[in-house]
Amino acid sequence: MNYKNKKLDFSKLHLETKLIRGGSIRSNFGETSEAIFLNSGYCYNDAETVEKRFNGEEPGYVYSRYTNPNLKMLEDRLALIEGAESCLVMGSGMAAVFASIMCQIKSGDHFIASRVLFGSCFQIATKILPNYGVEVTLVDGTNHDEWKKAFKKNTKVVFIETPANPNLEILDIKFIAGLCKKNGAMLIVDNVFASTYSQKPLEFGADLVIYSTTKHFDGQGRTLGGCVLGKEKFVKGDLLQFHRHTGPALSPFNAWMIFKALETFSLRMERQCSNAKKIAEFLEKNPKIERVLYPTLKSHPQFKIAQKQMINGGAMLAFEVKKSKKDCFAFMNRLQIIDISNNLGDSKSLITHPSTTTHASMPIAEREKIGITENMCRLSVGLENVDDLICDLKQALNK
Ligand SMILES: Cc1ncc(COP(=O)(O)O)c(C=O)c1O
Repeated sequence: MNYKNKKLDFSKLHLETKLIRGGSIRSNFGETSEAIFLNSGYCYNDAETVEKRFNGEEPGYVYSRYTNPNLKMLEDRLALIEGAESCLVMGSGMAAVFASIMCQIKSGDHFIASRVLFGSCFQIATKILPNYGVEVTLVDGTNHDEWKKAFKKNTKVVFIETPANPNLEILDIKFIAGLCKKNGAMLIVDNVFASTYSQKPLEFGADLVIYSTTKHFDGQGRTLGGCVLGKEKFVKGDLLQFHRHTGPALSPFNAWMIFKALETFSLRMERQCSNAKKIAEFLEKNPKIERVLYPTLKSHPQFKIAQKQMINGGAMLAFEVKKSKKDCFAFMNRLQIIDISNNLGDSKSLITHPSTTTHASMPIAEREKIGITENMCRLSVGLENVDDLICDLKQALNK
């Protein structure tokens, strides 16, 4: 019982191979599918060993709130596919967002965010940070003059979502990253909507990328999880210290689930993105639809930026049903295959009404400012047959 793990040179290998082989560690038993390490603590043969582990003289595990073999495997695989130096996984996407901001910001610092944000990110920006004495500026992320004027001497962190939840507003990552570099601020990009399959923010100058692994990485709606990717100095420095002592740890079981789900990630995303594109094109031609927002449609207001920085249009879209909230609800209620849900990034297609769910906590005036209307739906496109999905949408629109 002495299995030797292979050492692969991943620099020469493709995404599909990295998704299956990256980060994998087999135990001495040589199991084909990676084992689950459901342990909170560790034992040592002698007191000297544990002393060395604690003072960093010897590598090894000490406690699963810090790390664990399943968390390490997932972190290594995620860093590899993102092209990041380092990764830290956490218990949810929001834990990842919160820790990445709080580990570096303090009272008196200035924080900038684009205005279109997922509801909980909006709450962090507008309620939690000001409570801790952080000065906050929200900008229209598509307005470059607003960006230029927003920076101050004490600007420490800039947070954006692109494409944003729920209206798929697209921001110019390279432009914003340039301003951050000039002003000594750190740029965090929430890349949940695009996923790493459709966009790589680090290549455009972002400092950190955040994911809710709950979404497309798990892809089958089973686990909660999150991760932060970026330079090793920061991820294994300030962020790891904050994480160790505040405890937003991911469970080893969830880490294992997400790790195994990554094996089929590129297959799933290829199909989901191609389904989403076909659905966006179908909806755009339907007279019952007011407008469709999908990055590769020429009608998207930031189509040109999408062409510059996105690999494909992704698996998320938004659209407005003519004309009222009542019509919109009636349409959603008539869907036979597509489920009504506030989640996204599942193999099952899921439809959301953002203004009454994910963005209900946002003040109405803010919602109106960013165009989250009462007849807007968000669609997370799944793996079903695309013709079946289009038939389902057609029958629900035509009745
Ligand atoms: C854009 C975006 N960021 C962050 C999150 C938070 O992820 P989690 O639910 O895993 O905490 C979500 C969840 O829907 C999201 O849509």
